[in-house]
Amino acid sequence: MPTGKAVVVALLVTGAAGFIGSNLVRHLLQRWPDQRLVSFDLLTYAGHLANLADVIDHPRHRFLQGDIADREAVAAVFDQHDIDGVIHLAAESHVDRSILDPMAFVRTNVAGTVVLLQEATRAWGDRQDVRFHHVSTDEVFGALGSEGFFDEDTRYRPNSPYSASKAASDHFVRAWHETYGLPAVITNCTNNYGPYQFPEKLIPVVITRALAGEKIPVYGRGENVRDWLFVEDHCDAIGLVFERGTAGETYCIGGETEATNLELVRLLLDLVDAARGADPGTSAELIEFVTDRPGHDFRYAMDITRMRSELGWSPSVSLREGLARTVEWYLDHREWMADVQGSGHREFTDTWYEKR
Ligand code: NAD
Ligand code: DAU
Repeated sequence: MPTGKAVVVALLVTGAAGFIGSNLVRHLLQRWPDQRLVSFDLLTYAGHLANLADVIDHPRHRFLQGDIADREAVAAVFDQHDIDGVIHLAAESHVDRSILDPMAFVRTNVAGTVVLLQEATRAWGDRQDVRFHHVSTDEVFGALGSEGFFDEDTRYRPNSPYSASKAASDHFVRAWHETYGLPAVITNCTNNYGPYQFPEKLIPVVITRALAGEKIPVYGRGENVRDWLFVEDHCDAIGLVFERGTAGETYCIGGETEATNLELVRLLLDLVDAARGADPGTSAELIEFVTDRPGHDFRYAMDITRMRSELGWSPSVSLREGLARTVEWYLDHREWMADVQGSGHREFTDTWYEKR
């Protein structure tokens, strides 16, 4: 592991079979050539071993199935694997689902995070050569109007049950640092996209539906704005903050790439048409404006000055390049799509569209 503030031997990655987690495991196995890595994931509808297929038998990697809200299971991981670092990503992550079933978000995102914190302090006492990194979201800050940016000093104002649960978990992490001296860092990141994203989130929904010739649901008039970051850039930023971030601090990560949903969907569909040799505009005909998400945050955008000036990080993949790579990946991984789509999400998605 490169010289930095935190040097750990055995890292626990929670949520490792999900979208960002699986990309992160792949990234860290290369980034830190001496470290053992323990992946811990419940394998909910959103978590798939297929996401880790190419690293599952890696000699420095171990996968364990388990629930972060199960205290005994979490204690066993800390004790049996000499864990001295945690990167915590396990969560219920989809805003629409949080509107229908908020308690699942309280259980995993809030209670699960507290269990991890409790077990980390039990196992580590007041050691300072350890690190707990919570991977969080820009959604804790609420919504922006057409001007301005979120940064590390923005007040918390979550609007959805998902973002409220992530805000609560951020507060618990901070409280553990202040109260028990846990060396903890938090990162708050904007919308990620890239390989292995479960097809309930906008970008993989658009790609998978376009390939199947199905209607593409755009909420409201498609005017909401998101700031998009290619997942590998996020993984690099997490690695850096873990290595060199200051305990007790938070770091805001973003793509500096804002687009309205309609702009994004149109660009993505152009790339899908080009990649499969269809006439330009073919897939755009599938766009359908549907009832808006309740409480839909208008705009997210991040000021990444701190990441840039303190850690020398900035995004390296442009939106067009990242989307093209993502489309290519989905076209090359149709088996993966069939595999993960068998896990009940279509039932959710169809009910969701009907409900509104
Ligand atoms: P994801 O839904 O793809 O993955 C979440 C993973 O957590 C899944 O593998 C799931 O099986 C696992 N999990 C859920 N409940 C669990 C439990 N009780 N115990 C153990 N494992 C459990 O989510 P993602 O998009 O990869 O997001 C990962 C993290 O990053 C989340 O904490 C999310 O809030 C945060 N985040 C995501 C984005 C984004 O754009 N996707 C942006 C910023 C922050
Ligand atoms: O900002 C970071 C957050 O980004 C993460 O914390 C969340 O885990 C992640 O899910 C994501 O939240 P969003 O709600 O922004 O992502 P989603 O892909 O669900 O939606 C992106 C935008 O697209 C949003 O404005 C809603 C809209 N949308 C979404 C879907 C699924 C549509 O118009 N149609 C759709 O079918």
